Amino acid sequence: MRAMRATAHTNIALVKYWGKRPDGGRDLNLPAVGSLSMTLDEYRTVTVVRPRAAADAFALDGATLTGAAADRVAKHLDRVWRTRGAEAGPRPSCEVDSVNHVPTAAGLASSASGFAALTLAAAAALSEDMVEGMAEGDGADRRLLSALARRGSGSAARSLWGGFVRLDRGEEADGRDCIARPVASRHHWDLKMLIVHTTTGAKTVGSTGGMELCKNTSPYYGAWVASSQRDLDSATSRLQNRDLRGLGEVMEHSCFKMHASMWAARPPLIYWNGVTVEVMREVQRARADGLQGWATSDAGPHVKVLCEAATADALVARLESVVGVVDVKALGVGPDPKVEAAT
Ligand code: DP6
Repeated sequence: MRAMRATAHTNIALVKYWGKRPDGGRDLNLPAVGSLSMTLDEYRTVTVVRPRAAADAFALDGATLTGAAADRVAKHLDRVWRTRGAEAGPRPSCEVDSVNHVPTAAGLASSASGFAALTLAAAAALSEDMVEGMAEGDGADRRLLSALARRGSGSAARSLWGGFVRLDRGEEADGRDCIARPVASRHHWDLKMLIVHTTTGAKTVGSTGGMELCKNTSPYYGAWVASSQRDLDSATSRLQNRDLRGLGEVMEHSCFKMHASMWAARPPLIYWNGVTVEVMREVQRARADGLQGWATSDAGPHVKVLCEAATADALVARLESVVGVVDVKALGVGPDPKVEAAT
C-alpha cells in the first residue's frame, strides 16, 4: 500500500437521480432513474489515503469522523479492497484525510465529490494498477471506478469525469449496465452554474433517507420514476445541440417534479426555505426581462442557476439583490479528477 491523493470535482444534476431500484441488493446502490450532470470547476474534494500502523482513522476538514459517517468510509474502503479478490486477505488499516472545498452536507453535492475522491485515492493506494489505466483505453477502468463510487453515493458515479456526464439506470440485477459516461467535454459549451446560497449550515434529512421516505409514502413517486427517462433523453440531446432554452426547461421540470414528490411524502419533505422560492421567482422574472437562466435545487435549500457565461454577471447581480441571499458564486464546467502520489 502507498500514500495517494485524489481530487474530484462535484457535480450538479440537470436531470435528477432520486430513488433507488428495489432489486440488485442494497450494497449495489442502483438508481431508480437515470441522471445527467454538469461537473463544476471550483467545488471539489481532495482526499489522501495512506497506510496506518494502528486502526483506521478518518478526518474530514480536520475533524475526526466517528459513528455512522466513519462506518460509511470504512465500508467503502472494504468495497475497494474486495475488488482485488478473495485471496487478497484482510484490508490494511488506512488513514483518510479529506478536505471539502465545497460546503459540507448542505445540499451542495459534497457526497458526490467526496465519494469520487475517496474511491480514487483508495483504489490508487490499495492497488498498484486500478487507477493507472484510467486515462487510456476504452474507459473500462474508469467505468469500474465509477461503479464503485456509485456504491458509496449514487451521484459520485458522475464525478469520475469532467464536463457533462450521464448515468444510466440499467436493467440488469447485478448493475452491470448501470453505467456512467461523459456525453460532452468541458469545452463543449461555455456554461455557468450560479450557486445561490440561501442559508448557512447543514441540511436535516440526508438524501438516502429522503429517497426512502418518498418511495414508501409519496403517491407521486411512481409518476416521478415513470417520467424521468423521457427527460433524460431529451435533456441529453438538447445539451449536445447546445439548446439552452430546451435544456433549461427540462432541467427545471425534473427539479420541480422531484420536489413535488418530496412534498407529497408523509411527513412532507421540504428542503427549501422562503428564500429558495424567492430566488426561483427572480429567475423567472429575469427570463421575462430577457436574461436567460434556469433554476434547479437538490436535497437542500440552495438554488443553482444554469446560464451561458456571457449572461452570468448580470444574473449574479440580480440574484444577489434578492432579500435573504447569503452569497452567489458563478462556477464553470469542471475538469476530470486527478490522482497523484502523496506523502
Ligand atoms: C438530489 O447521491 O447523495 O442531489 O446514493 O443515497 O448517497 P445516495 O444519494 P446522493 O443523492 C443525490 C440526490 C440529488 C440529485 C442528484 O444529484 O442527482
